[in-house]
Amino acid sequence: MRSAERIGAIAFLASAASAIALVVVYFQYPNTQLEGALLGAALMAFGVAFVVIAHGLLPVGPSVERRELFGDDAEAAGDVEESFERIDVLSRRRLLLASAGSAIVALAVVAIVPLRSLGPRPGNALARTPWRSGLRLVNAGGEPVHTTDVALGGLVTVFPEGAVEAADGQAVLMRVEPGLLRLSRGRESWAPEGLIVYSKVCTHAGCPVGLYEATRHELLCPCHQSAFDVLQGAVPTSGPAARALPQLPISVAADGTLVALGDFSDPIGPSYWDMPR
Ligand code: FES
Repeated sequence: MRSAERIGAIAFLASAASAIALVVVYFQYPNTQLEGALLGAALMAFGVAFVVIAHGLLPVGPSVERRELFGDDAEAAGDVEESFERIDVLSRRRLLLASAGSAIVALAVVAIVPLRSLGPRPGNALARTPWRSGLRLVNAGGEPVHTTDVALGGLVTVFPEGAVEAADGQAVLMRVEPGLLRLSRGRESWAPEGLIVYSKVCTHAGCPVGLYEATRHELLCPCHQSAFDVLQGAVPTSGPAARALPQLPISVAADGTLVALGDFSDPIGPSYWDMPR
């Protein structure tokens, strides 16, 4: 067996071994650096095998072979027959094909296995927050918020009861003159006594919208100066935000605490939701 064939086969087998080791490491001893090194070794050995085979086995340049008359020369016929029966030619080819095949299969497995890391499908988890019908609005200390806790022109940050830590649940509660509100159809009862709640997560890039310009009834985002009209469903009036802040429907309980009537009107956060899919 020629050395090029031997080196090519060894390189293919080394590629397969590295790929198998990568799969074992992935499942048994997760280590990103080691996995990267093994992947590099597998691909490099695969490439080396092809380079060696290309340089060592494939014919170079134009070659001319004189063709002798075949005729009925019994000796020549015997040579031809013998050449077809040379098992070392077939075994070399088989060895190269087998080693190359094992490397290809192992690399294919390496390409598929990481799909396991994608985890479960998110479903509509990104479109929902902890807010549910009947949950009370609480302050950062977990205390229920009463109607008297927010003055006309004031702002209070509120959270869903039992989920104060949830970043997607934070909201801003304001009190405005009820007669000034111009909410869209279906939202007429969502702001009792002029108490109105919007998501605090900016629809541009997710900054907290915590500044309230009471005289202009505008919520302001400090990151890129988007402004939202509180009286009109928090539609953006200036700045880069392209989508209204989602509104939280609320009602007033018998004891004066504020209660959610459901989740926000729309998914919260950056305008990813409006991108064509
Ligand atoms: S994050 Fe609010 S304007 Fe950019």
